[in-house]
Amino acid sequence: MPELRDIAALRAWREAERRAGRRVGFVPTMGALHDGHLSLVDLAARSAPTVLMSVFVNPLQFGPGEDYARYPRDLERDRALAAGRGVTALFVPGVEVMYPPGSETRVVPGPTAERWEGAMRPGHFTGVLTVVAKLFNLVQPDVAVFGQKDIQQVTLIRRMVRDLDLPIEIAVGRTVREPDGLALSSRNAYLTGAERGQALSLSRSLRAADTLWRAGEAEAPRLESRMREQFHAAPGVTVDYIAIVHPETLAPVKRAEHGTIVAVAARVGRTRLLDNHVLGMEFR
Ligand code: PAJ
Repeated sequence: MPELRDIAALRAWREAERRAGRRVGFVPTMGALHDGHLSLVDLAARSAPTVLMSVFVNPLQFGPGEDYARYPRDLERDRALAAGRGVTALFVPGVEVMYPPGSETRVVPGPTAERWEGAMRPGHFTGVLTVVAKLFNLVQPDVAVFGQKDIQQVTLIRRMVRDLDLPIEIAVGRTVREPDGLALSSRNAYLTGAERGQALSLSRSLRAADTLWRAGEAEAPRLESRMREQFHAAPGVTVDYIAIVHPETLAPVKRAEHGTIVAVAARVGRTRLLDNHVLGMEFR
């Protein structure tokens, strides 16, 4: 599995794939790979014979005081996991490759970025869209794959692709969970044993909303208060928001229906976790 470290190497690799007539699938990541990331490789491989994964902890999407410096980094482990799952090539640029001195242009999202994560993390989605747009221009993938777990991120990326006419197909992979329901996340590595138990309140709240909705309750405030109850038994968890929203606009809905998204963000000790669920979908 070739490891491409700069733009010249990446472009040469891309040109060879083009000449060979192979479709390229792309899985962008920040590394610290887990089975969620690797499930996206499987999804990419279903629609392209070649899968490029990028591993880049993007400083632009971290705010001051966030975890950029301590974000888990283990390239050796990532390399082994990626190769084992069938990744064709890795792109591992340094910060100086992605942001050489003087780089200042940004891709700024619209109002869809103002709520939820965008409200909690000012500038975060400008950082995400800027790096994803750069990666798209470098890799020139036919299809790029993102996780449903970061629902607002994938919504904004779809919006960017439409608004800027990028000739890239976007595919979305379902959230991979631990057997007890915890959504896999690179940030789960920060959790202590006790916090790991309390972190289950996020997926429990989604499951509780789904159960209540299936029992016939559609009023969003009722679903939300049932979700909040799941956090009473987890005093170490601070909920940042609970969102019951339209799947495309992410605007709050008054009544939930099939396809409505229930989402939660919470802090467990110092660790911020996200999770969401599509009402009516199987909870796995
Ligand atoms: P990162 O957090 O490393 O996630 C990379 C991809 O894996 C994202 O598309 C994310 O939604 C997906 N993912 C994370 N947890 C998952 C899970 N449990 N199941 C399925 N997919 C999961 O998201 C980023 O990196 C960055 O913002 C990036 C897009 C790479 C831009 O820097």
